[in-house]
Amino acid sequence: MDRPEKKATRSSPQKSNNQSFSSGCSLSSSKLLIHALAVFVLFLVVWQIQQTSSASPWARWDKILNNSCLTTSHDTREGMADRLRQAVTFLPLKDLRYTGEAMKGHTWFMSSLYDMQEQGEVQYQQHPVEATGGRLLCLRGRDRHDGSWNSYALAWPDALPQNATLKAGITFVSYNHYDYHNIWHGLSSMMSFVAWHVKSQCAAPERWILYHWGELRTSMAPWVSTLLEATFGGAVKIEDFGSGGDDDDAPVCFEKAVVMRHNEGGMSSEKRMQVYDLMRCRARLYCQVGGRDGGIKVGVTMLMRDGTRSFRNASAVVGIFEEECRRVPGCRLTVAYPHNLTFCEQVKLMSGTDVVISAHGAQLSNMILMDRNGSVMELFPKGWKEMAGVGQYVYHWLASWSGMKHEGAWRDPVGDPCPFPNDEARCMSLFKDAKIGHNHTYFSQWGSSVIKDVITRKALQDPSALKPAAGLCGCH
Ligand SMILES: *[C@@H]1O[C@H](CO)[C@@H](O)[C@H](O)[C@H]1NC(C)=O
Ligand SMILES: *[C@@H]1O[C@H](CO)[C@@H](O)[C@H](O)[C@H]1NC(C)=O
Ligand SMILES: *[C@@H]1O[C@H](CO)[C@@H](O)[C@H](O)[C@H]1NC(C)=O
Ligand SMILES: *[C@@H]1O[C@H](CO)[C@@H](O)[C@H](O)[C@H]1NC(C)=O
Ligand SMILES: *[C@@H]1O[C@H](CO)[C@@H](O)[C@H](O)[C@H]1NC(C)=O
Ligand SMILES: *[C@@H]1O[C@H](CO)[C@@H](O)[C@H](O)[C@H]1NC(C)=O
Repeated sequence: MDRPEKKATRSSPQKSNNQSFSSGCSLSSSKLLIHALAVFVLFLVVWQIQQTSSASPWARWDKILNNSCLTTSHDTREGMADRLRQAVTFLPLKDLRYTGEAMKGHTWFMSSLYDMQEQGEVQYQQHPVEATGGRLLCLRGRDRHDGSWNSYALAWPDALPQNATLKAGITFVSYNHYDYHNIWHGLSSMMSFVAWHVKSQCAAPERWILYHWGELRTSMAPWVSTLLEATFGGAVKIEDFGSGGDDDDAPVCFEKAVVMRHNEGGMSSEKRMQVYDLMRCRARLYCQVGGRDGGIKVGVTMLMRDGTRSFRNASAVVGIFEEECRRVPGCRLTVAYPHNLTFCEQVKLMSGTDVVISAHGAQLSNMILMDRNGSVMELFPKGWKEMAGVGQYVYHWLASWSGMKHEGAWRDPVGDPCPFPNDEARCMSLFKDAKIGHNHTYFSQWGSSVIKDVITRKALQDPSALKPAAGLCGCH
């Protein structure tokens, strides 16, 4: 085992070694043998319970203990529980043996535990469950710098590790391989909990615990946490385990825990859309968004950026799309800078939007707040296609997951050449945040054809397909 000695092997003092196994049976000289045998039987019994018990494992446990020659007194049972308590084994949250395939299969996060997998459904762990004998999840997980110093264990409710605190209610434990402050990655890791919420009679958490590479995180992008607040109907309480300090290493166990480490992985497109439908509906309720203005047939919204990946000539770009919109009766163009809109202002804006036009960037996550079938037009600076890797397609993915229509991307052919011809990484760091130009001809044709499609699509659409936001938003 290559787990770190410091945390995983620290256990309580061996105080009960001499008090057990004496009351009911006359022990011969081979005390030691019986001692060993007793421990063996104990684990056999535990194994049996784990295999077969469905209700409280402790009812069976009592019966077996009462019939056993090994134990007859209450003291002895306490002694046994104490041994179980000491036998709880903490393993590192981040298992360095799987560094090379951190996100495959059981992943390097809680690598000894497997997820529940049903066809088309979100993959998750839930504790306690029968398969692990009704044990609770416990964490020693305060470290914010190295996930292999944090650890986890499963423990029976009556034999929690020494000095453990038990937290009541449902705890969501999230693993995010990237960054909770990146809206796309934050949303992607959080949507799996919404999927669990949908399949679990709308159960909501008491608290959230966030990990990145096994390191504790205590905040996320405000856009994402407000969306979660709207979705789950209450403030998002992120656990920080107190400021504790180094010696405050006591374990924390959870009455009910749900662990997610695969984002939307394994979910069917239907299930994914269900999740985004729910979030959209709850966000609109939370922000008290009324119906749409009947006079507006097509709402076109340009989400603008300041600084990085902004337009070289914003007024020129706005002018082109404005002109196309003006040609269509009932079309209205709105130009917005999301960074100075509140969450609810964004929700209101997007609920009246049929076409969103924007540079690649976090503000595009707002697309999920449009009605289903909304159109997305995405713009990139020079160099991305060749050098940006798969990350450049995240808004294509988000569009398909949330039931939107990605209308393609425009890639600026113009820009400074890279001064490091054979160094893609250095070129990309230059291109990443470059400004975006425009092509009048292309933008006019593209804008006009997307707006026409929207009009056609909406004429065919059954208006009842877009139900107003109400009640539980389809979660039962
Ligand atoms: C439990 O807490 C007590 C008092 O803080 C401490 O002395 C003891 O070492 C702790 N036990 C374990 C196993 O951490
Ligand atoms: C086992 O014995 C204890 C105390 O001797 C008693 O409280 C408990 O009810 C018994 N359990 C069963 C299942 O008989
Ligand atoms: C931006 O575009 C407008 C309209 O095409 C043009 O009049 C203006 O000169 C441009 N501004 C710059 C700085 O190029
Ligand atoms: C919003 O942001 C834009 C661009 O940064 C700025 O010009 C504008 O003044 C801001 N508006 C408000 C109301 O803060
Ligand atoms: C602008 O777009 C048009 C239409 O797609 C294309 O024919 C033309 O080559 C583009 N111009 C530039 C400078 O890329
Ligand atoms: C979205 O469009 C598809 C076909 O393009 C249509 O079948 C579906 O009903 C539309 N959904 C909504 C909610 O309008």
